[in-house]
Amino acid sequence: MPAYQAPRGTFDVLPGDAAARERVEAAARDLFARYGYGRVETPAFEDTELFERGVGQSTDIVQKEMFTFEDLGGRSLTLRPEGTAPICRAYVEHGMHKLAQPVKLWYLGPFFRHERPQAGRFRQFSQIGAEAIGSDSPLVDAELIILLDELLRGLGVPGLTLKLGSLGSPEARAAYREELVAYLRAHEDDLAEDVRDRIEANPLRAFDAKDEGTRAVMAGAPTVLERLDDADAEHFGAVRRLLDQAGIAYELDGTLVRGLDYYTRTVFAFECERLGAQSEVGGGGRYDRLVEQLGGPATPAAGWAAGVERILLALDQAEQERGLDVFVVAAEDRRDRALALATELRQAGLRADLDLAGRSVTGQMKQADRLGARRALILDGDGARVRDMESGEQRELDAARVVEELGG
Ligand code: HAM
Repeated sequence: MPAYQAPRGTFDVLPGDAAARERVEAAARDLFARYGYGRVETPAFEDTELFERGVGQSTDIVQKEMFTFEDLGGRSLTLRPEGTAPICRAYVEHGMHKLAQPVKLWYLGPFFRHERPQAGRFRQFSQIGAEAIGSDSPLVDAELIILLDELLRGLGVPGLTLKLGSLGSPEARAAYREELVAYLRAHEDDLAEDVRDRIEANPLRAFDAKDEGTRAVMAGAPTVLERLDDADAEHFGAVRRLLDQAGIAYELDGTLVRGLDYYTRTVFAFECERLGAQSEVGGGGRYDRLVEQLGGPATPAAGWAAGVERILLALDQAEQERGLDVFVVAAEDRRDRALALATELRQAGLRADLDLAGRSVTGQMKQADRLGARRALILDGDGARVRDMESGEQRELDAARVVEELGG
């Protein structure tokens, strides 16, 4: 019988992976407490209709990525692909509009999308998310972005870029869409074939095209940012001012479209350059119509979600790139001394390691290389030498002053 494996696109979290994951979760828990967010948990599955109505019929998520099943009573249920629609459902169901507004909620848990698995893209993944429901103030947008920025930076996620845009109101967006379709039609001859075929179905996709002809056309295309009405432009201006005041750098992106239909006004995404194609670690925006769309009172709201696995991948990359500061290589009779020195170096704040598997000196040098160590500290005879792993240069060290000399 073949051995069982976890389903495609899923993974097991083993004890070795748990510590990093717990560190991310603990950082989130601590931050949310300081920012006044209360924890909320909703079920792993909901009525399918909630996502059809909430996330939007025309989205990839609803059209092809949901794990939908019928229960024994014949009801259609769906494993949640995202958390915002369920939380709005809970907000209405529990009459949270009667509480002081906005209601600030956070969550952490598994989500499910039937996507093509690849690095950073899974069929079951974890999100940490925040939703602030019941205020249209730009202060809310800014506070949410400041919070996510602090979470990612505090954890040490490297190479972050914040992309910021505004989609305006659905009405303004519909008018803009018509304008963009007309623009693409006027330049049809210069567009790639697949873009041309999708002008009506999804004109915004043209902004993501890779071919030069299309890119040249899109460089001159109008963006939704240039078509905001006065109230939306004022709101966006206020969000930008507040981010400037907080010292948070961002890139304006007039073409930022997110894969969910509920967004209005502000949208944003944090990207990490160390991740490949799936570079977005977290993102979100304002969704002023969603609560009403789900049968509640008209209630403005905003939020974001970050992918825990993507954060972990980004941190892992950073760790690997940083490599070791020093690997202690020791002859057989100097192994005890190697451990003592590695401990001292670690206590002095260096990333230090040593052989724990009885390798020969040559084997230890290979191991130092494999671990990306910048230097090897070689203990043989009575002395100590330091070797620069890149240049191969070596020099003698005063055995009593190893830690100072290695920059501890
Ligand atoms: P989203 O952009 O679809 O937004 O997902 C948020 C984050 O979840 C992404 O930035 C990514 O890090 C992670 N993620 C998404 N899909 C996968 C996947 N297949 N594998 C691994 N990680 C993934 C939302 O879900 C919105 N509910 C965010 C929001 C909250 N907007 C307003 N409030």
